[in-house]
Amino acid sequence: MSTEAQTRPARPNGCTAGEGMCHVLTADAIAVSQPTSEINLLNLLIIDDERSMRESCREVAHSLGFNTHVADSPEHAYHSLDANPVDVVLLDLRLPGTGGLEVLREIKRRRPETLVIVMTGFATVQSAVQAMKLGAYDYITKPFNFDELRLVLERVTSHLKLTSENRLLREQLKSKHGFGSLVGHAPEMEKLYRIIAKAAHSTHPVLILGESGTGKELVARSIHYSGPYRDKPFIPVDCGSLVPSLIESELFGHVRGAFTGAVRAKDGLMTTAEGGTIFLDEVGELPVDLQTKLLRAIQEKEVRPVGGTRSVPINVRILAATNRDLEAAVQQGSFRRDLYFRLNVLTLRIPPLRERPQDIPLLIGNVLERVNAATQTQHAIGDDALRLMLAYNWPGNVRELENCVERACTTCSLSNIHVADLPTALRNFQAFPKPDFQSKEADAITPLDQVEKQAILHALDVLKGDKLQAARRLGIGKTTLYRKLKEYGSAV
Ligand SMILES: Nc1ncnc2c1ncn2[C@@H]1O[C@H](COP(=O)(O)OP(=O)(O)OP(=O)(O)O)[C@@H](O)[C@H]1O
Ligand SMILES: [Mg+2]
Repeated sequence: MSTEAQTRPARPNGCTAGEGMCHVLTADAIAVSQPTSEINLLNLLIIDDERSMRESCREVAHSLGFNTHVADSPEHAYHSLDANPVDVVLLDLRLPGTGGLEVLREIKRRRPETLVIVMTGFATVQSAVQAMKLGAYDYITKPFNFDELRLVLERVTSHLKLTSENRLLREQLKSKHGFGSLVGHAPEMEKLYRIIAKAAHSTHPVLILGESGTGKELVARSIHYSGPYRDKPFIPVDCGSLVPSLIESELFGHVRGAFTGAVRAKDGLMTTAEGGTIFLDEVGELPVDLQTKLLRAIQEKEVRPVGGTRSVPINVRILAATNRDLEAAVQQGSFRRDLYFRLNVLTLRIPPLRERPQDIPLLIGNVLERVNAATQTQHAIGDDALRLMLAYNWPGNVRELENCVERACTTCSLSNIHVADLPTALRNFQAFPKPDFQSKEADAITPLDQVEKQAILHALDVLKGDKLQAARRLGIGKTTLYRKLKEYGSAV
């Protein structure tokens, strides 16, 4: 979204780095002002050839909380529409050249969901009526004052808010536990659902960030399946597990004879996903040369199969995910900055499970429901097990929780799951409560054996109960560690 234009270094000719086509842009032809986190704000594109008009409209729109983009010609407007998730367009009907009505037609063709308010300088009902017939949402006659413009923009804002709330409500109704197959009602998750609902109805790339097991793929699927192209393919590609020499042909396809073994031509996954979504999982693992080719494919909207001479047009929505710190990778030079900005139009951060413990009972219930239905059983969670699961820090997030409950269902002797049925990582967590190294009293003296005990328990906590590692890192023999633990009365 907006940060793209804001943070990319400008090229000397006015084109921003990473752009496919180079448009010579006037200083304010593409201007944006809000960080990506503000994605609940509406995006407004102002198209007018008069600078003072653009500036005045921008001022009013800013005061109403819009992200604004401005364009002084139809070409810049199309470029901005392609590059930004625009919700509303303020269009001057009296544009030189093509004329506003033609631009309106083109906007509606490219982005049918975008609401267009036309500004007409002639106050001719005729052109306004024509514009409304072509799908304009509203019109305003020039000259107008700030209050008139404010009124029109406020009207469009409440219209959009209402439609997105309705859409969200419909989506949420589908699942009583969360959103689609995503379970959780923590405020961070509710916020995530709102963003997913919005992202689903845009065609811009989304970068999904989150620790392992937080549900990145599930979120990608939710974006695809709650959007208008849900009937088209959703193609996940694990960039981390593909053999580097084969990634290019997997993504872009190859022609017959392109390499040894290429006995027949094959379409790439980018082409297979036509009209739908390609999900580039673990995108941070993509080798640098492939990053360059991917960037070109996204910009040019076409791919060239390996060994081929002709490019094939593609029409695919890109979602990407990683649990790596991509910003750091960009700093280190292992990930292309321009590709990062391309993928990062919208960013979704999925919170780790330890930050939303209130969802743990719901998630456990969800797994139990599934297991019980599949195995015709009546498993339930015991209070002791639930208490421990609520206190645990879940480094493997929802995936770890799912595995934990599924395993407990197969191993527990009674239908209620108790602490004894939980994996060692959890039981050790209980045995070694978090030690407190920092005494609240500055002059307090800690006996040496206490310091030793705290150091041992701390090491086990950090190393998730791995005693061999702990002994090695503490610089003591493993038998000494076992003996000490026995003294402390901890389960060995
Ligand atoms: N909010 C959630 N509600 C229900 N199930 C979830 C949720 N989040 C994750 N899961 C489940 O947890 C498992 C892991 O999810 P997913 O594969 O989407 O995670 P991931 O972030 O892609 O993990 P990794 O980084 O390891 O690839 C899946 O079985 C998924 O169904
Ligand atoms: Mg994944």
